[in-house]
Amino acid sequence: MSQEKLTIAPMVLEDLDGVMQIERDSFLYPWSRNSFQEELLTNRFAYYITAKDADGFIIGYAGIWILFDEGHITTIAVKPLCRHKGVGSLLLAHLLKKAQLEGACKVFLEVRDSNLQARRIYERFGFKVIGKRKRYYFDEDALIMAWFLEKVKG
Ligand SMILES: CC(C)(COP(=O)(O)OP(=O)(O)OC[C@H]1O[C@@H](n2cnc3c(N)ncnc32)[C@H](O)[C@@H]1OP(=O)(O)O)[C@@H](O)C(=O)NCCC(=O)NCCS
Repeated sequence: MSQEKLTIAPMVLEDLDGVMQIERDSFLYPWSRNSFQEELLTNRFAYYITAKDADGFIIGYAGIWILFDEGHITTIAVKPLCRHKGVGSLLLAHLLKKAQLEGACKVFLEVRDSNLQARRIYERFGFKVIGKRKRYYFDEDALIMAWFLEKVKG
């Protein structure tokens, strides 16, 4: 799958069948369909996107809350068979760009201590571990990671 054939677009309610399939395949404690619906319909700070393949099938999605100068990544997942092809990085890059366009200069997220795959991508994008939330995932601690927009000197 080449990235040129991918489309990134805002998530809409019609996407939720595809999103929920990936959600269930990706997380031990998946969000409910209702949670996504609420985010899309009522959270004015939320921005969710999907990545679709050339046939229009959803292969990944991600979301962020942007409040004033601060962003908070709420979720990111890629269909298991489509991982390691740059889709997750593309989604993350898109969220960070959006956050900057909206005026955010820092972005935070939580990630499982054991989720080395996700941690590696975040680190590649310049996220740094700044703390820990005890038992955030019921069964495991979360690392808090932060990304700061580099200030242009001069
Ligand atoms: C985390 C997640 C979203 C990453 O998605 P992804 O599409 O696999 O991410 P990418 O393909 O951009 O990057 C993954 C790796 O593939 C590599 N890669 C990217 N394109 C590649 C290509 N064309 N060929 C070979 N490798 C490639 C990347 O360099 C990266 O390697 P690294 O981890 O050694 O740095 C995905 O693993 C996932 O959905 N996990 C389950 C849900 C989850 O844990 N979400 C995070 C919650 S905090």
